Amino acid sequence: MQEKLSTTFQIVDLNAQYQRLKPEIDSAIFKVLEDANFINGEPVKTFSKEIAEFVESPYFIPCANGTDALQIAYMALGLEPGDEVILPAFNYVATAEAAALLKLKPVFVDCQADTFNIDPNQIEGAITPKTRAIVAVHLFGQSCDMEAIMEIAEKHNLFVIEDNAQAIGSKISTGKYAERKSGTIGHIGTTSFFPSKNLGCMGDGGGLFTNDAVLKDVIQKIANHGQQFKYQYESIGINSRLDTIQAAILSVKIKHLNSFTENRQKAAEAYDLHLGQLPELQIPARTKYSSHVFHQYTIKLSSEKVRDGLKSYLNDKGIQSMIYYPKPLHLQPGYLYLGYNNESFPVSSLLSQQVLSLPMHSELTKSMVETISGTVSAFMENL
Ligand SMILES: Cc1ncc(COP(=O)(O)O)c(C=O)c1O
Repeated sequence: MQEKLSTTFQIVDLNAQYQRLKPEIDSAIFKVLEDANFINGEPVKTFSKEIAEFVESPYFIPCANGTDALQIAYMALGLEPGDEVILPAFNYVATAEAAALLKLKPVFVDCQADTFNIDPNQIEGAITPKTRAIVAVHLFGQSCDMEAIMEIAEKHNLFVIEDNAQAIGSKISTGKYAERKSGTIGHIGTTSFFPSKNLGCMGDGGGLFTNDAVLKDVIQKIANHGQQFKYQYESIGINSRLDTIQAAILSVKIKHLNSFTENRQKAAEAYDLHLGQLPELQIPARTKYSSHVFHQYTIKLSSEKVRDGLKSYLNDKGIQSMIYYPKPLHLQPGYLYLGYNNESFPVSSLLSQQVLSLPMHSELTKSMVETISGTVSAFMENL
């Protein structure tokens, strides 16, 4: 057995990234402090243009976080209490939470065992006369099968929201939408700039993409208290803003986003090389639908016992790992009212027992990956 390593390996190393970009980030922050334009300052407009250009979307509307972005999307599409939205069961909570808060009904669908994304083959079975929208969550860094999802949506006259919080920069590889960036295909794409995201700020942040000028105006109004003109509240809105300091930081980081992504992809390749042949361990499958920007490097183990054993072994050696997600949404206490049970979505339930995300971030080096992989191998070979 290996000794505890002298360094600790974090799942995301935000400090190392900050140290590398410190002069640029500090000067961007101090400029905002000097200008004292903390709310809706020029950097918010500048960054909004930059990110719209980056994902090649005509419109980007900033807001306070990725969960608000989803709520605003549901509101902008005119969804009403009792309307049903189709969501993946193996997923972060935000899509379901924002829906439930608006008294929409989350209707879960199972996921693909290899890509972890919503299984398009199961969507039609979940559609009822009350269904209004499908939310395609691009999990861990690669896009759902958008061509299939858009086809179903068109056939049933449904809206599509892409939750792109984890896949910013990934590019569709095949078919009708080839070369388009994820988040720009559905009616609305949402994103989060939570610090650990591939493009993360130093607090909270989020936003929405759309190709539709009318929808852009509606989204802007909702995010700004339902007002287009000051003190004229045309509809009920919310207060959801990306603050100026965060926008200034994001403008610095977006210039590095392609190189962050390349680094993540290189680290993933190095992991693949070391872990690809191990027994009882599956490296992440690459979807054929898009490039992978590796928000997470998520392996699958043969059982919950092996997964939990590996996690605790890594922890003892100073290597952080995370279980995204330990329980699918349909089994979470807050969502049991929807009436699902253990058998409802077998793939999602199994994934929650098998997955483990290893350190993955823009500062990961080849030698760090070698050390982490060596530790994983030492455990797996001694099973
Ligand atoms: C897929 C997904 N959707 C939505 C969110 C919510 O973003 P935020 O934390 O900015 O509200 C997250 C963030 O964790 C996420 O991973």
